[in-house]
Amino acid sequence: MSGEEDPPLDVHHYEHRGKVPWDIQNYWSQRYDLFSKYDDGVWLTDDAWFGVTPEPVATKIADDIARAAPPERKILVDAFAGAGGNTIAFALSGHWKRVYAIEKNPAVLRCAQHNAEVYGVSDKITWFLGDCFDVIKSQLKDLAPYSVLFASPPWGGPGYRSASVFDLRTMEPYSLTTLYTEYSMFTPHVVLYLPRTSDLNQLARTVKGDRPAPVMHYCMRGASKALCIFYGNFQFS
Ligand SMILES: C[S@@+](CC[C@H](N)C(=O)[O-])C[C@H]1O[C@@H](n2cnc3c(N)ncnc32)[C@H](O)[C@@H]1O
Repeated sequence: MSGEEDPPLDVHHYEHRGKVPWDIQNYWSQRYDLFSKYDDGVWLTDDAWFGVTPEPVATKIADDIARAAPPERKILVDAFAGAGGNTIAFALSGHWKRVYAIEKNPAVLRCAQHNAEVYGVSDKITWFLGDCFDVIKSQLKDLAPYSVLFASPPWGGPGYRSASVFDLRTMEPYSLTTLYTEYSMFTPHVVLYLPRTSDLNQLARTVKGDRPAPVMHYCMRGASKALCIFYGNFQFS
């Protein structure tokens, strides 16, 4: 366990399956996929289990963004930090001068901050409690010329799995159009983490002109997990 601090209200480090609520039990069996250092005292709220990006996927995304981002872009803004899965991977990559992480739920933000300590990267991250759209406009605007923005929005709960093609217009609470419109006012270099079944034609319609917007498909042990679209001048050659 990292330190002796007890988790705050609504935050847990479950040590035995017997203590885990029934609706998280599937996720409990994947706990080391989510955080390889789970046993070092990783904290999660019960809801955060559903949204964490598995560590191998978060690491791969962090590698891809680091190698393809324009060289003058040395700030990474993680708009939906959650329990820290992606934020920690960005900090561990060593590529960024600073990682800025925003989360609107105080208990979930506490998890991310604590988990970053478990992984030894808290000194590389600046945290914001609040709404990402407000924080970006009010507190990060001066960083815009140097920033890449990554966002792993809520997908509207586990129900997204039942759709053979996921409708990004009805994604809740933020549609693809809302995300793209808001973030591209901040920086052209935007990476969105979306369901693997996302409607590719809807993605194509957000791309201006004939500019490339690579879509990367992320898998783990032969299972498709998610995709990312890379808007802006990312160079994957
Ligand atoms: C899918 S989770 C992010 C998971 C994260 N990438 C990880 O690996 O742990 C989405 C998070 O966005 C947060 N959120 C939702 N709306 C937000 C907003 N407007 N501003 C900041 N955070 C928000 C939710 O509380 C939730 O924790």
